[in-house]
Amino acid sequence: MSGSTVALEQEPAPIVACTISRDVQMFDLLIEDMEAEMGETWGDLSLEDALAFFSQPESSDLEFVAIAMDEEDEANLSQIAEVIRQATARNIKALVIAEEVSPMVPSVPTGPAVSDVNREGVLVAIHGLAGGTGATTLAVNLAWELATIHKTDAPRVCLIDLDLQFGSVSTYLDLPRREVIYELLSDTASMDDESFMSGLLTFNDRLHVFTAPADMLPLDLVSPDDIMAVIGKARANFDFVIVDMPRTIVQWTESVLTAAHVYFSTIELDMRSAQNALRMIRALKAEELPHDKIRYVLNRAPKFTDLNGKSRVKRLAESLDITIDLQLPDGLKPVVQAGDHGVPLAEAATKNPLRKEIHKLAQQLHAIGAQDAEPKKKKKGK
Ligand SMILES: Nc1ncnc2c1ncn2[C@@H]1O[C@H](COP(=O)(O)OP(=O)(O)O)[C@@H](O)[C@H]1O
Ligand SMILES: [Mg+2]
Repeated sequence: MSGSTVALEQEPAPIVACTISRDVQMFDLLIEDMEAEMGETWGDLSLEDALAFFSQPESSDLEFVAIAMDEEDEANLSQIAEVIRQATARNIKALVIAEEVSPMVPSVPTGPAVSDVNREGVLVAIHGLAGGTGATTLAVNLAWELATIHKTDAPRVCLIDLDLQFGSVSTYLDLPRREVIYELLSDTASMDDESFMSGLLTFNDRLHVFTAPADMLPLDLVSPDDIMAVIGKARANFDFVIVDMPRTIVQWTESVLTAAHVYFSTIELDMRSAQNALRMIRALKAEELPHDKIRYVLNRAPKFTDLNGKSRVKRLAESLDITIDLQLPDGLKPVVQAGDHGVPLAEAATKNPLRKEIHKLAQQLHAIGAQDAEPKKKKKGK
């Protein structure tokens, strides 16, 4: 083998820039510019491939992406927005080259602004003790009620889906599950306020959501420290942090239970809920965890006039030796439909009895939160 061949087989230069577009051939001036500036060190991706590429190790050399769009891309806006968010979250600069796009488009979607004070937000966790008892419905609607409690001066609310495998917050708010969530959770040590905030999605300009990861995560892949890092970032930047917990008890259940200002457990009036509640209480007692912190929420509670039902509620509470702090009525089909359409009850079924109760709860929490949180706020030490 001669020496000269070896010299020719150099490692190709890493790709440090990429164009991202429907079809790069439509943007020939961009191709010329990239060739002039970057030589051989740039590549080209379609919108679909861009997201997949970001999650591959090869993308770590990327310094910037040039996203080219024209009027035909107005339909692809949410995809483009996601590409920009993910690039930003990975410290890749995103340039947008827009041809003949209406002036509203594209407003570059970054995360919500980082708060300049540590807000020490009120932490509210919601844990369904049996599947389908309405934990996520309560979490989503409570978060939305809080975020819209005043027209102009509503608190900043962050909703976190910690049901890492079956999380349905994104379904109930019609939001995508994002790759970036996995990245944040798998390296919380290097997460800062900015990267946390850019991982959030915004629902109707008001509510900020940390969705579950796109792929099913083993619940023990994340440690209590990871979870508390995420919650800490959320509490620093928001007035209320609502957490939808997984149904199973995991390593970090204790951490959240200890940190929460309020920990709601949803149950229904059936044997399954009663037995699960009993198990949960026993487990927490055995570990000497603060089981008395749990506020029991009876969902699909019997109506006021249902005397038989009311005495069953009384017996359930007595047999478990708990107080049922909150009863939520059955809101019937409109609740399921609102969830399927990805809108909160306040938007889809304003007068629904379930919505009214969750609205009242939000008002109470807001009143307590406002009293509690105000004097403690302090400047962030950066
Ligand atoms: N009070 C209620 N009235 C009517 N439907 C409800 C009520 N609470 C929950 N649901 C419906 O029950 C199903 C399960 O609720 P969900 O909140 O996903 O439960 P969980 O998170 O505890 O598993 C959903 O279809 C939801 O719309
Ligand atoms: Mg749920």
